[in-house]
Amino acid sequence: GPLPGVVEGERPTLDEIRRELGDCQRCKLCSGRKNIVFGSGNPRAELVFVGEGPGADEDAQGVPFVGAAGQLLTKMIEAMGYRRDDVYICNVVKCRPPGNRNPEPDEVTACEPFLRAQLRAVQPKVIVALGKFAAQTLLRDMTPITKMRGNWREYEGIKLMPTFHPAYLLRQPAEKKKAWEDLQQVMKFFGKQPGQ
Ligand code: URA
Repeated sequence: GPLPGVVEGERPTLDEIRRELGDCQRCKLCSGRKNIVFGSGNPRAELVFVGEGPGADEDAQGVPFVGAAGQLLTKMIEAMGYRRDDVYICNVVKCRPPGNRNPEPDEVTACEPFLRAQLRAVQPKVIVALGKFAAQTLLRDMTPITKMRGNWREYEGIKLMPTFHPAYLLRQPAEKKKAWEDLQQVMKFFGKQPGQ
């Protein structure tokens, strides 16, 4: 049938969604990619992190957040008292934009149903939106991330915390303090202590 498991309102499994994605040619990012970067981690995670899109390392390995930004994200996850395998990690677009340019609106539109289906499959308690693409796409709110971050929002009945993207934090380390405040709000929701 048409997009089984990816239609609005159905709750597919991650395997079904990945199968539906197939050797995706739904947008022009397919021409430059090496791997589709679907997502990684616990399919029943209480906490999901959503990034923007794969970079060179992620495209090469087919796994999200394995480059420099990914190493920082892993540290952030561990500082929250989780292991990387405890959470689920995915991106707004699943193929690398050439030269790491921003994803274009048609590319976001093509990929978004798969992200939304992944979130329905995992059913986390909290989503952390990393950077403006994740926050603006999921919330359909074009408020700048500097204003959105640190404030609880709701996505399809799930609590969502927007914060800075780890790649931004690598360029602006002074902003890490604010991101940590945002993550501490998430920890407080789960009743977790740092590093526990
Ligand atoms: N940046 C992202 O937004 N996602 C990745 O997977 C890696 C870097």
